[in-house]
Amino acid sequence: MTTRKRIAILISGRGSNMAALIEAARAPDYPAEVVLVVSNRPDAPGLALARAAGVPIRAVDHKGFASREAFDAAVEAALVEARIDLVCQAGFMRIQSAAFATRWLGRQLNIHPSLLPAFKGLHPQRQALEAGVRIAGCTVHFVTPELDAGPIVAQAAVPVREGDTPESLAARILAAEHRLYPLALRLVAAGRARLEGGRAVVDGPVEEAAQLLAPAS
Ligand code: GRF
Repeated sequence: MTTRKRIAILISGRGSNMAALIEAARAPDYPAEVVLVVSNRPDAPGLALARAAGVPIRAVDHKGFASREAFDAAVEAALVEARIDLVCQAGFMRIQSAAFATRWLGRQLNIHPSLLPAFKGLHPQRQALEAGVRIAGCTVHFVTPELDAGPIVAQAAVPVREGDTPESLAARILAAEHRLYPLALRLVAAGRARLEGGRAVVDGPVEEAAQLLAPAS
């Protein structure tokens, strides 16, 4: 197998998507290894999870920096020092400077708990319920300077049920996120999904695609 891509995961909180990526990357044939977890919140529960999994961690507290650019530069330094190939945002609640997003264009992914381009930004599960959609889901996309607007790599669908609350819908979507993100990262790390001319190109067929559709569950 060719060399595994070196992954950094950026988090701000719980870190359940981070844990799913770390777990997936334990497989010997996975084309990526998680070599660094960075959190902008020193007290993020995800940091302890990463440490327990044996992954090097770094807290870069955004409150210690005078500007967005200065914070981004500190993150950049950590990524360069760890010789990172690909960055995965997983519940990372900071907007990056356009310069940072552009520098990592095609090499940075994010997961968002909606079927983009619907319901960008905060509280997408609540937005989905208010809109009355019957199918919700999650999206892994390449990060561009525009929030939640980058080219889409992969999506997974879940049903919206009568009586759903933002919390119950979020839990159903989160379970799908934990399947989707490792699959999407595998495609990108293996070079089967890439950014070309401003679009995501995926060499198909994606064998697991059927697992990502669960409208009856
Ligand atoms: C996930 O729903 C993710 O899609 C969103 O924030 C949440 C983070 O959860 N961006 P976790 O920290 O991965 O558990």
